Amino acid sequence: MTSPTGKTVLLIIGGGIAAFKCHELIRLLKTRGALVRIIMTRAAEEFVTPLTLASLSGEKVHTALFSLTDEIEMGHIELSRAADLLVVAPATADLMAKMAHGLADDLASTALLATDKRVLIAPAMNVRMWNHQATQRNLSTLKRDGITVVGPNDGEMACGEFGPGRMAEPSEILAAIIAMLQPKAQPLAGKRVLITAGPTREPIDPVRYISNHSSGKQGYALAEAAVALGAEVVLVSGPVSLPIPHGVQMLPVETARDMLKACEEELPADIAIFAAAVADWRAETAAVEKMKKGKGGTPVLTLAENPDILRTIARSSGKRPQIVVGFAAETEHVVKHATEKLAKKGCDLIVANDVSAELGVFGGDHNKVHLVSAQGVESWPDMTKADVACKLMERLALMLVPHIRAAE
Ligand code: CTP
Repeated sequence: MTSPTGKTVLLIIGGGIAAFKCHELIRLLKTRGALVRIIMTRAAEEFVTPLTLASLSGEKVHTALFSLTDEIEMGHIELSRAADLLVVAPATADLMAKMAHGLADDLASTALLATDKRVLIAPAMNVRMWNHQATQRNLSTLKRDGITVVGPNDGEMACGEFGPGRMAEPSEILAAIIAMLQPKAQPLAGKRVLITAGPTREPIDPVRYISNHSSGKQGYALAEAAVALGAEVVLVSGPVSLPIPHGVQMLPVETARDMLKACEEELPADIAIFAAAVADWRAETAAVEKMKKGKGGTPVLTLAENPDILRTIARSSGKRPQIVVGFAAETEHVVKHATEKLAKKGCDLIVANDVSAELGVFGGDHNKVHLVSAQGVESWPDMTKADVACKLMERLALMLVPHIRAAE
């Protein structure tokens, strides 16, 4: 196990019986060279004393949000800004609820809302509180927000009940801290990844268009995952209402033809992933003025086929990316149709997903995908779109290695 030497951990101690385990956690962190700053909630002071914690950490312990001297020496914003990692232990049901809802009514919750650093929580509470749907709902929200969770463990609790709710042991929390502080491997450093996402919009007239339900979530999650692996990422995106992931160059487009042009201009790339739900057809001619009722009866829309962006780039000579990945949105015979698309489009991998309305993939946060390639079919379990993105990017990074070796 490597050590967090020189790193600053902001430890936020909630009010629970497990707070006493923080003594050992602080000791473990200190012996491994970490600087440990501490915030206690009001309730935590009922279980452990600021004096003990100050002696163990060798640092002033912060308790009050509106303390004039604390704010002058190191305010709540600075406390979270100066940390490499925030650790909430014990994370009580109350603290988790505050975090999930963005409440900020004391120093601990304010520091947690003010941070842009990674956060680890070690929940501890009574088993019924842990199993309560409100806590489980908050837990899902926190995980979706990117918060890492260690524990809780099963066991006999201070209240005499048995089940999940015991805070993870200090050694387990330390291992989670070390894993989070470890610089992430960046296998895609120096590599360029082109991703399409979202729907396209094909105008009928200045106020009407043809489009689809794509939310862009899977494509945006892929862009984020590629950046995390060190890639330079260009995201060619149709209209969606998602924030641009940090470190991603986003090129907004509307139509399929704009999307193709933007993609071609962004080549060469090492990997290209076509996650956009491109409208297959556009109105052959879009009216310049708004179409009015009563003029020549009901209008008939003549459609023209849009260019196939994936196929064009996968089959282009010269600038073809080393790895080309397509998506297949299907409502029936998912794997069969995806296998056909793999050949038709000329890509290396098809990520097939069932977009039948009842599964809620369009707009939802989950996806169940099948990876279809010349090597066969691999079916993944139901995962969040963020997890699908991480796993897929890691797989693509591995696939790129033989290409790199071959080029050497
Ligand atoms: N695609 C594309 N350009 C298009 C249509 C699709 O780049 N004009 C890409 C999508 O981004 C996706 C893959 O092709 O990666 C498959 O898209 P999909 O809509 O499932 O298939 P289509 O080719 O449109 O075929 P169909 O609608 O008949 O299933």
